[in-house]
Amino acid sequence: MGWTDIRSGLAACYDFKQSNQPAKGGTLKSDCGGTCANFQSSPWHTGFLIQTAAVLSFLLSGSVQAADSATAKALVVNLCSACHGLDGNSTDPKFPKLAGRHPEYLVRELKEFVSGARKSDIMTPIAKTLDPDEFKGLGEYFGAQKPGSGVVLDQKMAASGMKLYQDGDEERGVPACSGCHSSTGAGSKRFPRLAGQHKEYLIQQMQDFRSDARSGAGSRLMREVTKRLSDDEIKAVAEYLTGL
Ligand code: HEC
Ligand code: HEC
Repeated sequence: MGWTDIRSGLAACYDFKQSNQPAKGGTLKSDCGGTCANFQSSPWHTGFLIQTAAVLSFLLSGSVQAADSATAKALVVNLCSACHGLDGNSTDPKFPKLAGRHPEYLVRELKEFVSGARKSDIMTPIAKTLDPDEFKGLGEYFGAQKPGSGVVLDQKMAASGMKLYQDGDEERGVPACSGCHSSTGAGSKRFPRLAGQHKEYLIQQMQDFRSDARSGAGSRLMREVTKRLSDDEIKAVAEYLTGL
């Protein structure tokens, strides 16, 4: 679903008293036909109902076309922050934290959403609408934010996750995660920061590597590693990482 479909879907579904300010209200129309029904069954509608009023206000105001001239900061304020948080520490676990992730890694992922090597119903259309010249500024903005930690709920699980993360399991050919992502989970240009990330997101990504759903150029190692992990190990390592 592209921006045009989203905009016409919204217009078909909702009555906006002030068309530029859906955040201030917009009521679902009672006579909701074709375009609207398509839109309602899309992830965009769910996003709208959850928390993306600011994104949609940006969309409806037509400022996406003006993205060329917008600075990275303006894009963050008007668009990215609705899901990832203004300081890159999203509160909703569906949306990854971007704070403190290396700028080059963020740029690479944005390119992969555009090329289709990494697929997301939400990020793919967003990345495609951005001017690639903005990627660097966006990566630098989020890279410069201070990353926050999550909360460990199960200490025992986190302890077994720590063992796997720091030491791997030689017998089963599982390399130590710390060998690439660093012992603190801070990562580097090539290896993303994992420390403090939402566990739901970490689990989802590891499952996506394991099923080859996430298959970008840099994903070969992770696809191999995750095929050797059980569901419980994936959960344990995520429980550990969120607390770093
Ligand atoms: C409507 C919500 C939403 C908005 C707005 C949004 N994102 Fe995302 N973003 C997501 C979701 C969901 C994911 C996880 C995708 C997946 O499952 O792979 C994501 C993932 C990412 C990733 C990959 C992170 C990683 O650790 O690999 C980057 C980079 C990113 N977004 C950048 C941005 C930027 C830059 C903007 C603003 C221009 C933005 N996003 C706007 C929802 C959003
Ligand atoms: C040989 C190096 C290497 C090892 C070992 C490794 N990783 Fe990775 N990992 C990577 C690379 C490279 C990426 C980025 C993949 C991409 O660009 O799609 C990555 C990505 C990830 C991501 C996705 C992060 C995000 O923000 O979307 C998670 C989660 C992850 N690794 C967890 C682990 C865990 C857990 C282990 C140990 C069991 C591990 N990795 C071992 C290289 C490695």
